[in-house]
Amino acid sequence: MCKNKKVRVTIDSRDFDFPVIEGSEKEKGIDISSLRSETGYVTLDVGYANTGSTQSSITFLDGEKGVLRYRGYPIEQLAEKATFLEVAWLLFYGEMPTDSEIESFSQKVALGGDLHKDISNLFGGFAQDSHPMAIFSAGTMALSGYHPDFLKNGLSKEDKDRLFVCVMGQMATLAANIFRFKYGKAPINPDKSKSYEQNFLHMMFSEDDKEYRSSKSVLEALRVLLILHADHEQNCSTSAVRLIGSSLSNCFASLSGGIAALWGVLHGGANQKMIEMLEMIQNDGCGYKKYIEKAKDKKDPFRLMGFGHRVYRKLDPRANVIRAKCDALLEQLGKKDPLLDIAKELERTALEDEYFIERKLYPNVDFYSGIMYRAMGIPVEMFTVLFSLGRIPGWLAHWKEMVESSSFRISRPRQIYTGHTERNLF
Ligand SMILES: CC(C)(COP(=O)(O)OP(=O)(O)OC[C@H]1O[C@@H](n2cnc3c(N)ncnc32)[C@H](O)[C@@H]1OP(=O)(O)O)[C@@H](O)C(=O)NCCC(=O)NCCS
Repeated sequence: MCKNKKVRVTIDSRDFDFPVIEGSEKEKGIDISSLRSETGYVTLDVGYANTGSTQSSITFLDGEKGVLRYRGYPIEQLAEKATFLEVAWLLFYGEMPTDSEIESFSQKVALGGDLHKDISNLFGGFAQDSHPMAIFSAGTMALSGYHPDFLKNGLSKEDKDRLFVCVMGQMATLAANIFRFKYGKAPINPDKSKSYEQNFLHMMFSEDDKEYRSSKSVLEALRVLLILHADHEQNCSTSAVRLIGSSLSNCFASLSGGIAALWGVLHGGANQKMIEMLEMIQNDGCGYKKYIEKAKDKKDPFRLMGFGHRVYRKLDPRANVIRAKCDALLEQLGKKDPLLDIAKELERTALEDEYFIERKLYPNVDFYSGIMYRAMGIPVEMFTVLFSLGRIPGWLAHWKEMVESSSFRISRPRQIYTGHTERNLF
């Protein structure tokens, strides 16, 4: 709390003082928790663009300056030096792990990767054409049935440690198995001797008679993408995880809801839509400029995918890292992707266009990530699953922070009712 600082609001000619809350980066908010009881009024903030739903010490984001930090560490440094499991630990526990902590954690995650054999029966209930995100969300919910220990309320510290390991291990296997189901292949068991990234690619791409050997550049690309996706403070899916968890529903149910929220094209689903848009531009043959005009036309529902963000008014710092890594990956693999050329032209033109300048619309994390996933041999429908896999530590960290918070309450927004006033049926 900002000592003694208050904001005075006059409502119906009466003055009310509300305390000012100041965060560690000097962000200020007005604590209106007593607003309704004192004044009878509620606030209205459609889309929550001005509403702080919680205080959190996990991730700091400054959209005006293009800054993103996990637990204080700049995303650029983590993307340069850390492993994904180290970042997962950092998000969940608040500090970078020691050598012995990360060694033991990595082993436990690898050992925890075997799914119960019955989980794959679930896949058979899905149409072959089902989107992998539908199966991922349902599969995550199904995991709750195989881990009854974690369903009770008031989990101990040791329970939460084990839950963290279990979720990190099981979700990677689940994601890879969904890919194999979709493409008519038998699941591959985790290889406990491999790193998280190596094991994931092995479970995706190895064949019975041929083990997948990941190149250094593909492993590096996967590491960076998972880290960049690992958390993004109170975004739509993380807020969904918190909201679901706030009813004391279990952690698997919360994560399943987070995956459902991430699937949408305005959120994580944009990485798939971005590539589909580039393919449409390529096949159309009329050139990308037509699509810039379509994006600006208010009568046209078309939006430039991978562009714009609720909080960034500058280049998304994750897009900055991804753009450089994308160029490096294609060069190392000796691949040329014509979609990358279209993307670069779109970006250059949009950034010089008044419409995008005025609205401060820049490429976001999804603008180049799809081109990297393509180069790694990951099918477009799996892109958002990969995003979800990266986001799991962030969701878990927020879920943990919420259930441990001294101000924990069920989330239950109000509304301004605009329907009929009372009327009689007879
Ligand atoms: C991310 C997104 C949902 C943010 O939405 P938001 O914060 O509600 O922003 P708004 O929709 O209010 O956009 C503000 C203005 O920019 C325009 N705009 C935003 N993103 C745009 C885009 N990608 N293409 C064209 N115009 C866009 C809006 O039409 C609006 O214009 P107006 O002020 O003339 O009405 C939005 O930018 C978007 O749809 N982007 C494309 C999908 C995407 O890449 N999502 C991934 C996000 S990581």
